[in-house]
Amino acid sequence: MIGRLNHVALAVPDLDAAAAMYRDVLGAEVSAPQALPAHGVTVVFVQLPNTKIELLQPLGDASPIAPFLARNPSGGMHHVCYEVDDILAARDRLKAQGARVLGDGEPRIGAHDKPVLFLHPKDFAGTLIEIEQV
Ligand code: CO
Repeated sequence: MIGRLNHVALAVPDLDAAAAMYRDVLGAEVSAPQALPAHGVTVVFVQLPNTKIELLQPLGDASPIAPFLARNPSGGMHHVCYEVDDILAARDRLKAQGARVLGDGEPRIGAHDKPVLFLHPKDFAGTLIEIEQV
């Protein structure tokens, strides 16, 4: 059902420092920061030949990644995103298998203007999973 790895998202306390590390130490292609107030994050995209890394820094008071950074003050892997062809079919299959879909179960428009859903990490080896319809 799942297809390509779309991105791995890292929550970071200092976006400029993390972007500079990926650009200068690791030699990657790094975008300018983009504020996404509707998602409560500022994001930098690291473009790799086969996938993307997203660096996420909290934006605003109710950022969805603030609790993660409170538990992981130096940052860490926040979620992985897999591509699916049909997000409603994927959701229904996952629910039928007993997986928990976060929120109200309806896809939201994610940071890439595509429909996304998040799956409970306790059902997936401790990893928050995002599925994105491409
Ligand atoms: Co994501």
